[in-house]
Amino acid sequence: MSLDVVILAAGKGTRMRSALPKVLHRLAGKPMVRHVIDTAAGLNAERTHVVVGHGADQVRNSLAECGVGFAVQAEQKGTGHAVAQALEALSEGRVLVLYGDVPLIRRETLHQLLEPVDEQHIGLLTVTLENPAGYGRIVRDAAGNAVAIVEQKDANDDQLTIRECNTGIMAMTAAQLRRWLPELSAENAQGEYYLTDIIAMAAAEGVKVVTAQPERAVEVEGVNDRAQMARLERAYQNDIAETLMSQGVALLDPSRIDVRGSLTCGSDVEIDVGCVFEGDVEIGEGVRIGPNCVIRDSYIGAASVIEAHSVLEGAVVAGHNRIGPFARLRPGSRLAVGARIGNFVETKNAELGEGSKINHLSYVGDARLGRNVNIGAGTITCNYDGAYKHLTEIGDNAFIGSNTALVAPLSIGREATVGAGSTLTRDVADNALAVSRGRQVSKDNWQRPVKSQTR
Ligand code: UD1
Ligand code: CA
Repeated sequence: MSLDVVILAAGKGTRMRSALPKVLHRLAGKPMVRHVIDTAAGLNAERTHVVVGHGADQVRNSLAECGVGFAVQAEQKGTGHAVAQALEALSEGRVLVLYGDVPLIRRETLHQLLEPVDEQHIGLLTVTLENPAGYGRIVRDAAGNAVAIVEQKDANDDQLTIRECNTGIMAMTAAQLRRWLPELSAENAQGEYYLTDIIAMAAAEGVKVVTAQPERAVEVEGVNDRAQMARLERAYQNDIAETLMSQGVALLDPSRIDVRGSLTCGSDVEIDVGCVFEGDVEIGEGVRIGPNCVIRDSYIGAASVIEAHSVLEGAVVAGHNRIGPFARLRPGSRLAVGARIGNFVETKNAELGEGSKINHLSYVGDARLGRNVNIGAGTITCNYDGAYKHLTEIGDNAFIGSNTALVAPLSIGREATVGAGSTLTRDVADNALAVSRGRQVSKDNWQRPVKSQTR
């Protein structure tokens, strides 16, 4: 049977105290609802429908590239009413109801929930909690079958002692929903159309309610405020840290790493505290990353060392490289084996050949450096003329003296030498020396002016 996924995301999220719709708040760098969509994407669903309401346009825009459909719930009249808004768009087959603010649900759990679903069976994900306050309670009959869900506000004293709770996540067929949703009534403590009431309808028809449980409660935890958000973020990061360590990565403190995307590491990688990884990052064997580095969408080849406080974005570092401390590699920085970038150096769209070095206080942008080029401290490529960017090319074994301005477009030949303090505007031939600076003047026994005592 085909599968449609319905993700409820119409609620306001008042307790977040934010202008941003709740489901767009980021967990591990990605909007919560994107986590749910990405998890659902692995279920081979026919289509995913997101029910939007509060901040509908913002949510829609943010998800424009996800290939999901949208149903609008203009007024929030309850979870049953929310699902009803997607009813028309559903194909005939199974339907899985998820929540945009329950981001850590695992695909394996959902597979388990969906497995028994057909016209005679619905799936209900429940969780047993120490403190069930606020949740809908699962009512079972003498035979142990789940026969109803009672919301906290509608429950009697006996029902309030039940610790098995409704996670909200459930699965059924479209035909069942088409039968049951129109029958929902809002005559309850909250005046809402409760999706949970379909459980009693199923039981009344003899449709069996098959319950499943998540491996851990955090999977079904919803976010209502920033404190819960932060807790889920830590839970998510802990899992990533555990996985990395199980793969042989040394984390100096597993509670002080943040991965916002995907991080792949070879063996014997060591990561010091406070590092943030964003987008797709791949790190080769034996790489050491110092404290407080930020690395986004980059590749770091084997046996490289990234020293403290370095920031890499869109960088490709071949291997055996030493970078930082305090280096900034911007997109298009490509280092061949053994190239070095030292402190307070910024590179952008810059290729460094094997063994080339930029060790101190430099900006190298839009540049192609050959092998074993040495760039002295304080060297700047003047790559921008106010309208266009220009290229600087430097041949193998060239030596650029300190405090040099290279006004691009510019080409410096192999084995060329540039004197310190030069401002170069014209190309330099292979093996040449170029110096462009004022000649030094020295006057012997120079007397400085002195202040008169009498004036
Ligand atoms: C719901 C369940 C409760 C369960 C709990 C788990 C119902 C009636 N109750 O209660 O049994 O224990 O979740 O957290 O289903 N939403 C809409 N449109 C609406 C109402 C809600 O999109 O009209 C969305 C909200 O944005 C939210 C989710 O549905 O993501 C749950 O809504 P909420 O009002 O928080 O449900 P609870 O009262 O917590
Ligand atoms: Ca409610």
